[in-house]
Amino acid sequence: MDDSLTVNLANWDERAAAHAASPDYGVDRFLTDPTFISQVVAFDRPRLGALDGRTGLHLQCHIGTDTISLSRLGAQMTGLDFSGAALEEARRLADRTGAPVRFVQSDVYSALDVLEPASFDLLYTGIGALCWLPNIARWAETVAALLAPGGRLFVRDMHPMLATLEAHPDRISLDFPYFEKPEPTIFDGPGTYVATDAQFTSTVTHEWNHGLGEIVSALLGAGMVITGLAEHDSVPWEALPGHMSVDADGEWRLTERPWRLAASFTLQAQRPSLA
Ligand SMILES: C[S@@+](CC[C@H](N)C(=O)[O-])C[C@H]1O[C@@H](n2cnc3c(N)ncnc32)[C@H](O)[C@@H]1O
Repeated sequence: MDDSLTVNLANWDERAAAHAASPDYGVDRFLTDPTFISQVVAFDRPRLGALDGRTGLHLQCHIGTDTISLSRLGAQMTGLDFSGAALEEARRLADRTGAPVRFVQSDVYSALDVLEPASFDLLYTGIGALCWLPNIARWAETVAALLAPGGRLFVRDMHPMLATLEAHPDRISLDFPYFEKPEPTIFDGPGTYVATDAQFTSTVTHEWNHGLGEIVSALLGAGMVITGLAEHDSVPWEALPGHMSVDADGEWRLTERPWRLAASFTLQAQRPSLA
């Protein structure tokens, strides 16, 4: 395993239990309300359309809350993540809710070693996923190979513009790469993005940004057809602390003039059907 993968895996393994216990992931709500779906999936529900009977794969599924939400909307779901600790939480939630979801452990780039090629008609990837992958072209090739002809990719992630910014008490600065670079940007932070009292010892992460054009071009290069691209002024967590406010939809926007920033995006693409 390369150094970045080892460092990131230690970080994610350590956070899984704390995330499952945090009110921000709403695990209890999945248990008490069989119709509850995660805020991330609810946000995109108008764009997702009918999922009944779809064979879906959720890449980087974490503790399974979005995967189970897609299952509740009718898709037959598989979740993939490289973190055994995250999958333990995901399987526990699926068992407790009776969700018929399968979870598999793998690095995204090795997904074709554990999953059948061309076997999914929906591939979903959610907020905070692409920044963990060094090479967006390789991701797009993997996605295209997993999808059946005619299958559909649905991505909602942090906007690469947001990922360039650093929040300070009195200002926001443009500090980090917009375009993909071979070497990671290395962060060292004590916490995580949800409310928790947990103390962490694995605090370093290795991350990569990918420009929106690079993501679109990677998908086109892998033979996919782009079918939708929407940019949003919001994200589901306080990405720029001190500069954002939460709205009734649970999404965070710049407190002042939120129209200045594209904070997240939803991208849809399709693998062409066989002629
Ligand atoms: C922020 S979560 C994204 C999921 C979703 N938005 C959520 O909050 O539940 C990122 C996930 O990516 C996984 N991950 C990071 N790098 C990965 C890799 N190379 N292969 C597979 N999973 C990876 C982590 O284990 C983590 O569960």
